[in-house]
Amino acid sequence: MTHAVTARAHTNIALIKYWGKRDAKLILPYTSSVSLTLADLYTDTTVEFDAALAADTFSLNGEVRPAGKISAFLDLVRAQSGTTAHAHVRSLNHVPTAAGLASSASAFAALAMAASSAAGLALSPTDLSRLARRGSGSASRSIFGGLAIWHRGSDDATSFAEPLPATTLPLKMIVVLVDQGRKAISSRQMMTATIATSPYFPAWVEHNEAAAEKMVRALAANDFAQVGALTEASSMQMHAAIMASEPPFTYFEPETLVAWQKVQALRAGGVPAYATMDAGPNVKILTLAPYVDAVVAALAEPFAGRLLTTGPGPAARILKEASD
Ligand code: DP6
Repeated sequence: MTHAVTARAHTNIALIKYWGKRDAKLILPYTSSVSLTLADLYTDTTVEFDAALAADTFSLNGEVRPAGKISAFLDLVRAQSGTTAHAHVRSLNHVPTAAGLASSASAFAALAMAASSAAGLALSPTDLSRLARRGSGSASRSIFGGLAIWHRGSDDATSFAEPLPATTLPLKMIVVLVDQGRKAISSRQMMTATIATSPYFPAWVEHNEAAAEKMVRALAANDFAQVGALTEASSMQMHAAIMASEPPFTYFEPETLVAWQKVQALRAGGVPAYATMDAGPNVKILTLAPYVDAVVAALAEPFAGRLLTTGPGPAARILKEASD
């Protein structure tokens, strides 16, 4: 008999970024980070352990893919559950446009939830977050809906995410699709290079840990100006540390700065909008519901047709379980 479990997890965008692992095997970060889980971008993953299988299989959006990273992650689940069976893993990325926004955060959060349940483990949200973290650091936060903080912790047991109290701020995020191609350098590789070669990395760690604490306070106070200022600063400080690496590198493209400058101009005109960029050229704009139309109008030239408006999304959850 086999047991198939399907889980859905939504991607998240960090307001206070995670950049750098102090333990690469356990994925323990240098700093805490704070994120917003998004409604419209998510991954559905089905896991089915089957003792008759000779190896794990993996498909993404119906296409067979190498199972290497997935197998390594399933090994963690097998070790925890005592299962020795291999598994079929099928993932579907739900991204409204062909956006190049597929994310390891939603992928590993959905995989952690589906695989642990299919293997018969009943993990607490904290333990699910710790497990998802081993696949991709940002996945630890996608176990939770809305705002989440990933505590840097001091070891495997203490480095996990948890939800932050709901804010009364009507948060919205507008994704500006600058480029849909593959990243030149993966975030994993570039984090290692930043730690090894950027003279700004120690300053980044010091500032960002303090920023995570300030962000928690600003959210609790529903102080959007402070939330936005901290969001932009964490992103730009992360990119400054990246740019200062040797050899130098940036994820920015010319249109990244075009979008960023439009956000600065909006703010100068009284619209509360703040930009954040991850390990790629796309720009995510944090604003409040009453200002979405103004932001979209200001970005229409040259980004019409490349804007996606979304808001806070729910926690990861089991969609379906079937035995046969
Ligand atoms: C810039 O979580 O993808 O999006 O742990 O190596 O899988 P790994 O990295 P990943 O990095 C995310 C980096 C970021 C910032 C963030 O999400 O906090």
